Amino acid sequence: MAMCLTRNAKGDMMNGKRILLVIGGGIAAMKAPQLIRLLRAEGAAVTPVLTQAGAQFTTAMTVSVLAGEAAQAGLWDIASEAEIGHIQLSRNADLVVVAPATADLLAKMAHGLADDLASTLLLATDKRVLVAPAMNVRMWHHPATQRNLRTLRDDGILFVGPEDGDMACGEFGTGRMSEPEAIVAAIREELAPPAPLKLLPESQVRSGALAGRHVIVTSGPTHEPIDPVRYIANRSSGAQGTAIAAALRDMGARVSFVTGPAEVAPPEGVTVIRVQTARQMRDAVEAALPADAAVMAAAVADWRIKNSWAKKMKKDGSGKPPSLEMTENPDILAWVSQAGARRPRLVVGFAAETNDVVAHATDKRLRKGCDWIVANDVSEGTGIMGGSENAVTVITEDGPEEWPRMAKNAVARKLAQKIAGVIG
Ligand SMILES: Cc1cc2nc3c(=O)[nH]c(=O)nc-3n(C[C@H](O)[C@H](O)[C@H](O)COP(=O)(O)O)c2cc1C
Repeated sequence: MAMCLTRNAKGDMMNGKRILLVIGGGIAAMKAPQLIRLLRAEGAAVTPVLTQAGAQFTTAMTVSVLAGEAAQAGLWDIASEAEIGHIQLSRNADLVVVAPATADLLAKMAHGLADDLASTLLLATDKRVLVAPAMNVRMWHHPATQRNLRTLRDDGILFVGPEDGDMACGEFGTGRMSEPEAIVAAIREELAPPAPLKLLPESQVRSGALAGRHVIVTSGPTHEPIDPVRYIANRSSGAQGTAIAAALRDMGARVSFVTGPAEVAPPEGVTVIRVQTARQMRDAVEAALPADAAVMAAAVADWRIKNSWAKKMKKDGSGKPPSLEMTENPDILAWVSQAGARRPRLVVGFAAETNDVVAHATDKRLRKGCDWIVANDVSEGTGIMGGSENAVTVITEDGPEEWPRMAKNAVARKLAQKIAGVIG
């Protein structure tokens, strides 16, 4: 195919890198041309591969002209297959990107199907694969898709998005493909040379099952200001999160401990990041990434005051109380669970419930997209919130696992061992 495009490299971040871009069959395929433009502007070479369904949403001509290379589509092309083209394609790339990654493509990848060029090269590749899922919210939350996502994560597939938002089908929810700019940022991150290893002084090198692993632990309550002297808080003491951080440290992990204003002092030998509000906690967690695991034990306030007062509120003599308008805080657990390429391999959430503990926690695990939920009953009379003991049920993909009531330190050690079983 004759091409008339000259390369317009704005930067050299990706100079000399080759991206094999698989374009699946969803409305978001219309963003593929823009993705190709952005990648080429950063100096990358792009080989587009269109699935049969992908070609219904964007054309081979458009992506070929923008890429400066003919789009690949068929498995049964004699000219290229004489040189085993599908293997070469999958090996010549520095990174394989699937955008949009439809539910169908993800299912094929999870099951190792190879019945067209795209799925065959995804199975044949020896390179890292980054997927940008795009689908209807129901398709995203379907247990089959969620099962496939877990398989793909376990296989080391990297994710960017999806985002929450309006869908082409008129529904709202999780499933929108990340914008091309965000996909480019994730690609840039994957292609960046690894940071040089910083060696710890000998005295600080730890041994243990989690040596060399980085774990983020959040702990304590958050304080959401009403005015400079008043705030909304909860009864979390930070005892369980602190014990977990200490147990992980004792097993050799490097721990970033993001704590709200807790009653108990943070443990020694961990990196302590103190925050007040949910928004600060989210920013601190983001800054602490990447990590091998995240244990989100903090009791984050669901809501904050929409417009907190800059000055102390005073009675005005009218006898009328002020009205406080609330707004939702960022959902840190859901955000980390869906952090795409930056998602820790294991994300553990906590659920403090007062009724139907297992049912609510099981639902929460699916809604947030985390791997495990540690659920506890904090209803009055259990003495758990602020107490020294805990009775938890750990919910994993295999179902609920009820642990006997024990000291929070013992829960922490048992959980740290379970974590080491995955990332150790
Ligand atoms: C108008 C239309 C829009 C679609 N959008 C999506 C989508 O966004 N995500 C998705 O997973 N499937 C979507 N589908 C269904 C896929 O196109 C279908 O499952 C197809 O087999 C996927 O092929 P692929 O594996 O080549 O991507 C859509 C279908 C139609 C007709």
